[in-house]
Amino acid sequence: MSVKINTLEIENVKRIKAVALTPSKTGLTVIGGKNRQGKTSVLDAIAWALGGDSFKPSSPAREGAVGDPHLKVTLDNGITVERSGKNSSLKVIDSTGNKGGQQLLNSFIEKLALDLPRFMNASNKEKADTLLKIIGVGDKLYELEQQEQLKYNQRTTIGRIADQKEKFAKEMPSFPGIPAEPISPSELITQQQEILARNGENLRKRQQKEYYAGQLELAKAEYERALSALKSAENNFKLASLDAEDLVDESTVELEQNIADIEEINRKVNANADRLKAQQEAEGYRKEYDNLTSQIEQLRHDKKQLLEGASLPLPGLSVEQGELVYNGQKWDCMSGAEQLIVAASIVRKLNPECGFVLLDKLEQLDTDTLNEFGKWLEQEQLQAIATRVSKGDECSIIIEDGMPAAPAPKTEQKTWKAGAF
Ligand SMILES: Nc1ncnc2c1ncn2[C@@H]1O[C@H](COP(=O)(O)OP(=O)(O)O)[C@@H](O)[C@H]1O
Ligand SMILES: [Mg+2]
Repeated sequence: MSVKINTLEIENVKRIKAVALTPSKTGLTVIGGKNRQGKTSVLDAIAWALGGDSFKPSSPAREGAVGDPHLKVTLDNGITVERSGKNSSLKVIDSTGNKGGQQLLNSFIEKLALDLPRFMNASNKEKADTLLKIIGVGDKLYELEQQEQLKYNQRTTIGRIADQKEKFAKEMPSFPGIPAEPISPSELITQQQEILARNGENLRKRQQKEYYAGQLELAKAEYERALSALKSAENNFKLASLDAEDLVDESTVELEQNIADIEEINRKVNANADRLKAQQEAEGYRKEYDNLTSQIEQLRHDKKQLLEGASLPLPGLSVEQGELVYNGQKWDCMSGAEQLIVAASIVRKLNPECGFVLLDKLEQLDTDTLNEFGKWLEQEQLQAIATRVSKGDECSIIIEDGMPAAPAPKTEQKTWKAGAF
């Protein structure tokens, strides 16, 4: 069980003449009153009583007081703390009557619980570091964040190169309908040769026709002598004529043009190949960029898991990029109640033995927010002693001119309860 304050008695400390208080065991005890009546002096006195000389006010003795300052705090672990006499000397007595000192108090008093503003006003990084120290993952998180930053920078560079390469590829000329490989002229030359060969054959056939025409002439001349030869020649002539009918010569003009075009085509082929290469290069960089993106996502995931695996003092509380984040909000975007809840839960975890926290100037919270914060404190079994410029129902005690405004018997003392208004 963490240590709480049972009772307080303060005399002649700063603005206080005499105040006695029995704070609620858990939840919020609000010290109300107008300005400069001694509310904060109560908290200063508690901090001095429990926190030691570093919390001693610069002029602790009330001006005009006849007696010396006197402080008495009883704690629920049976320890009584007193400061009295000219030198305000400390007396710490435990439940068995043994004397102790500041060291005994230090074992269960968390200094930041006596001075929450010190935590609340710390830099964002200091706050986050405090949390990371508590949960013991600071080094590992730092390492993951370093890696993430490195990958992020790499990705930025790669992304820029990929953009440039893509732009470069787009600006290069492109020729649609051109084959991917350079054309070889040899195939066309072979085609040409085959056509020339076929045309040669045609020539031969024409010559044959001519030959038989001659023969026919001879045969005609010899008609008389050689009727059979004539017939045969006629026959041959007929056949040769048939053979020579409908012959068409193929043109090589197109091939010749194509051969002439090869150089131009190949220039385009090379241009297309260059463009393809540039596109592939750009794609390569784009892939590397995507790869780095998934590595960054993995590192962010690892970070999240690291923090999720650690025992955080408050659900929804985390550290991102070296800053506290509560329910997705950074410190400056948290509400006043959220800031108090975050601060109180971190400070509580710093020394779980310390079951209370002192809070000054709660007038910054409206009563609904105060109610919400009070509920949270009760749920956490945390005791808070707070001051507020108010004389409302939320106040457990009203201080006026260094004293309770309307001293009431202890049993009737108003104790503010969460949800009571
Ligand atoms: N040692 C002291 N003796 C008498 N008055 C003091 C002393 N120290 C501070 N004060 C006065 O106490 C007042 C502030 O008291 P404080 O407890 O802060 O009031 P509150 O929190 O109610 O506004 C100021 O007017 C200040 O001058
Ligand atoms: Mg004050």
